[in-house]
Amino acid sequence: MRFDPSGPLRGRYVPPADKSISHRAALFGAMTDQPVSIRNYLQSADTASTLEALLSLGAGVDESSDQLTIRGVGLRAALEATGGSIDVGNSGTLLRLLPGWLAGQAGGRWTLDGDESIRRRPVDRVVEPLRLMGAMVEARDERFTPLTVSGADLTGIDYQLPVPSAQVKSCVLLAGMVASGSTSITEGSMSRDHTERMMRHARVPFQRDGMTATVTQVDELELEEITVPGDPSSAAFLAAAACLVPQSKLLIEDVGLNWTRTGFFRIAQRMGAVIVGELEEPGTFSEEEPVGELDVAYSPLEATEVLPEEVPLAIDELTLVALLGAFAEGDTVVRGAEELRHKESDRIAATVTGLRGLGADIEELDDGFVVHGTGELRGGTIDSLGDHRLAMLGAVAGLASREGVEVVNMEAAAVSYPGFVADLTALIAGP
Ligand code: S3P
Repeated sequence: MRFDPSGPLRGRYVPPADKSISHRAALFGAMTDQPVSIRNYLQSADTASTLEALLSLGAGVDESSDQLTIRGVGLRAALEATGGSIDVGNSGTLLRLLPGWLAGQAGGRWTLDGDESIRRRPVDRVVEPLRLMGAMVEARDERFTPLTVSGADLTGIDYQLPVPSAQVKSCVLLAGMVASGSTSITEGSMSRDHTERMMRHARVPFQRDGMTATVTQVDELELEEITVPGDPSSAAFLAAAACLVPQSKLLIEDVGLNWTRTGFFRIAQRMGAVIVGELEEPGTFSEEEPVGELDVAYSPLEATEVLPEEVPLAIDELTLVALLGAFAEGDTVVRGAEELRHKESDRIAATVTGLRGLGADIEELDDGFVVHGTGELRGGTIDSLGDHRLAMLGAVAGLASREGVEVVNMEAAAVSYPGFVADLTALIAGP
């Protein structure tokens, strides 16, 4: 699909529902004995995979026009002595979170697998802590799917996260709810905390002390309703387009402003982007997911260096930092982001190759990239490699480029944002 240089983006825009929170809402719904209503559940390929998985585990899913009701099977017992195959599709979050719950279901045995991209994504990061808790877990070459989880009576552990990953943290916390005693997990730098907030919302005994999160075994969740805010990661693509196309002015409404997700907006602000809104104060820990508005307008940009502690807070938007860097004055540096190599594609290699192909002056590092800003981008062709965020990156690059961009396999965007092209097109047309 082709994206030609465009006029300004103007108007109001409501992003699609948050993917991370939708996955968690559905999982928590399935773990609850009472029906749980979810408002604004994301309709996308990834979150549909989660509903399919929960149906196969015996949960009920009722969809009406404005809400989804999950009739759960409860935290434990109802899954005993069941099992089977679970197709996670393209979803890394489902692949890493679900085993945490399943690992505590003594007597059950499940095999999780997914598409070609999932088969390249590491699962040893969840295998290790689940084994330490007493589960039997097998993975191809000890590292990849198919991943087989045999449930057991788990015991709580104290675990130091070896990789900065909210998915691994969440997996261990979910297992901790069904493990005897307490389970603590310490991270080197803060990653998204939606699981922790939802646990508190569900009245799970949970504490945070600095970088350590502790959960204690619980019999049942107390949950009736969850409202999913707009996804700041999806909104970031439209925000970046407004930052780059002269005379743009956008009002983003109903967007999640949890500080563990808004690293990109802060980095962009530091680059000179006009992004105004009530971003949650860093360090806040509440059971609420804050929601609000962001005003975004075009402005010239300056290069920046992304700090190591900012990486997990902007992990899905670092490709956009590279794109902004191409238009900025000076050298934009992202380091400490080795995790990007394990996303839906190797996002360091794919971003460098993709943006270089469009005329950017960008260097690959083992753990990131350096972009020498030239103030513009020629355009050309970029392959999404089946990675939704690269597809959307290519589209945004096209609007801001001199000659336009052809995105090969734009359909990949449907993994998180099926309405992306329609939303973008509507904003170019203006209010
Ligand atoms: C996610 C966490 C991040 C992120 C992914 C969603 C989550 O992955 O990249 O898109 O919902 O917990 P990691 O935790 O592996 O960094």
